[in-house]
Amino acid sequence: MSAVNARSPVAIAVLLLCFAACQKNIPLPEVRAVPRDDAPLIERGRYLAENVGVCMSCHTPRDFSFFSGLPLRERYGEGADVGMVFGYWPPRVVMWAPNLTPTHLSEWSDAELQRAFVSGIGRDGHSLMLAMPYDQYNALSVDDARAIIAYLRALPPLPHPTASPQGALPPGEVPARKLPFPVEPFIVNIMPIEAHLVERAPPSEDTVATGKYLATIAGCLWCHSPMTKFDQVVKGKEWAGGHEFPKPNAGVELTSLVRGPGVIRTPNISMDPRTGIGTWSREVFIARFKGADRAAIEQLAKPGPRDMNTVMPWAAYAGMTEADLGAIWDYLKTFPAQDNAINRFEPDAQK
Ligand code: HEC
Ligand code: HEC
Repeated sequence: MSAVNARSPVAIAVLLLCFAACQKNIPLPEVRAVPRDDAPLIERGRYLAENVGVCMSCHTPRDFSFFSGLPLRERYGEGADVGMVFGYWPPRVVMWAPNLTPTHLSEWSDAELQRAFVSGIGRDGHSLMLAMPYDQYNALSVDDARAIIAYLRALPPLPHPTASPQGALPPGEVPARKLPFPVEPFIVNIMPIEAHLVERAPPSEDTVATGKYLATIAGCLWCHSPMTKFDQVVKGKEWAGGHEFPKPNAGVELTSLVRGPGVIRTPNISMDPRTGIGTWSREVFIARFKGADRAAIEQLAKPGPRDMNTVMPWAAYAGMTEADLGAIWDYLKTFPAQDNAINRFEPDAQK
């Protein structure tokens, strides 16, 4: 035994080195040429990036003085701090969603770009944190991934911000994530996933499959289910709600978002009639989204510091078509009801 003990620091060092060395090697994908002037392809990409996969809800500064935080017009894709959207990081961690306009991406090949958003690998080969939900986009179809690329290429170029929420940046510095501990070699680098793109999106007549496809890309399940300590949806408890977030408050320019005080918990959106949305109809479900578009939210009274606010990007999802929202409803209906009452908002709690 003592021999093993004596060797164990060495064993640990070897293990750590192995981890460090075993960054997953995910080769660049083959991406069929993405034309730069294909209007329907760009429009499909816009729909996916703004209204379904909501890339633009993270990669654009949002004004959280409005309910649900409206993305700033004219600044789509400029880049924004999302570090405080998700509660599990201490505030000193800066999670920065980079600029996605040609200013930042013009040198990237289509293959590098696709590998970033479906597999989680940056251009220089470093791994992205899962605050960038590439696991969701791994479910895209081949052509929908191309559509998103076409849309990003067509965005008007916007300069990098010259300040981060932590203050002014040295001239020329591009804002990026800042991690206070060396997670990169040991955790981050084993996270990227190979691409599993499907050949094509399900046919629209198959509403349940279409709903599953869209809800996966939109990340509904992750927010609306209870989570394990390792940030996995608790099996068998899908849609039961209860995922906790710090309540977003209005913040300074660029931060867009300041944590709490206040904790919000996602509602149960399973078909339980008492604690979920089982008494809703398909029409009510669709209307709930359509009634929460930008114009409607702009009309609402601005929430005060002790009022409820939300991380659900309503105005973005409101742009989904009625057919697509109906398909998500049909998909939700295939899951068992969950009896799970949620205390949705505690104004004085801190997360
Ligand atoms: C929930 C917030 C969120 C959403 C939604 C999101 N991203 Fe990101 N994205 C991020 C963050 C945060 C990073 C930086 C991750 C890091 O540095 O580890 C990032 C990084 C990236 C990068 C790498 C940029 C670089 O300079 O390395 C690309 C490309 C990207 N995202 C594209 C997309 C696309 C396309 C979509 C939609 C299909 C999308 N993102 C949706 C938060 C998000
Ligand atoms: C970032 C986390 C997040 C994501 C992603 C998200 N939601 Fe939500 N959702 C919430 C929160 C928090 C609330 C409660 C506060 C509110 O009304 O916004 C909510 C509220 C709802 C409600 C209202 C339920 C009720 O009882 O009033 C429905 C329906 C809903 N979400 C469906 C969805 C669907 C469908 C998707 C995917 C298209 C989705 N959500 C994505 C966080 C999220």
